[in-house]
Amino acid sequence: MSYVTGYSAAVARLFWEEKVAGSIPATPIGHLLSKPMKIFLDTADYNAIAERYQTGLVDGITTNPTLVRKSGVNYLDFIKTLANDFAFESISAEVDGETYDVMLENANQFLNIDPSITIKLPLTKEGLIACRDLAMGGIKTNVTLCFSAAQAVMAAKAGATYISPFVGRMNDNSFSGVELVRAISGLYCAHGVETKVLAASLRDVHHVSRCLLYGANVVTLPPAVFDKMYNHVLTDAGLAIFEKDFKEING
Ligand code: E4P
Repeated sequence: MSYVTGYSAAVARLFWEEKVAGSIPATPIGHLLSKPMKIFLDTADYNAIAERYQTGLVDGITTNPTLVRKSGVNYLDFIKTLANDFAFESISAEVDGETYDVMLENANQFLNIDPSITIKLPLTKEGLIACRDLAMGGIKTNVTLCFSAAQAVMAAKAGATYISPFVGRMNDNSFSGVELVRAISGLYCAHGVETKVLAASLRDVHHVSRCLLYGANVVTLPPAVFDKMYNHVLTDAGLAIFEKDFKEING
């Protein structure tokens, strides 16, 4: 069963239940119909986030230690500011993945800021045990640095809210990142797994739409890639002609 078929069939069944059979479906139809393609920004740059937040097209944020180092902010303060200033559905904050204890200690620091923070954990044995324990406590988790479908199976078993396959880093190493997304999405769909596929390490617009086509629930984009999502050379060319014609019409 493909992802699209499964999803369409679910919507059709709910419509039938509600509109024809007259019963109240367990999952509200509106919830499924509005099942959107979520866009997160992958950055630790406050101004870049604030500027794009205004568009209403950004659903969440992912961060990592490298992004935080580059932006020169204090990680805890930055997460606190994001949680205070914006209404995102998810803000991923990454723990230091050295040991289980360090991961839990780090996670608690973020969760003390806001218990709805998504704790980002590495796809290691200890990371998954930490994920399992946090998930059992109702905490949202994002298992990161995923490079195989087998790893994604383990993350789902650990109750991860999100799994982050790294598309760009796969491509950098001559593996297909989008095929990995397709494999994980298909596998999760076939088994009714609730873990969401969050396609990460995206470097260009083409891969973004490919990941969504292949079943990713979420894409996380650097701000520059987000900005390019609006653009097409034929839009610019068409607009230039229309502008010229408007001038002629209006004298
Ligand atoms: C995802 O959560 C990571 O922060 C990110 O997408 C990594 O991207 P990179 O491979 O471009 O560093």
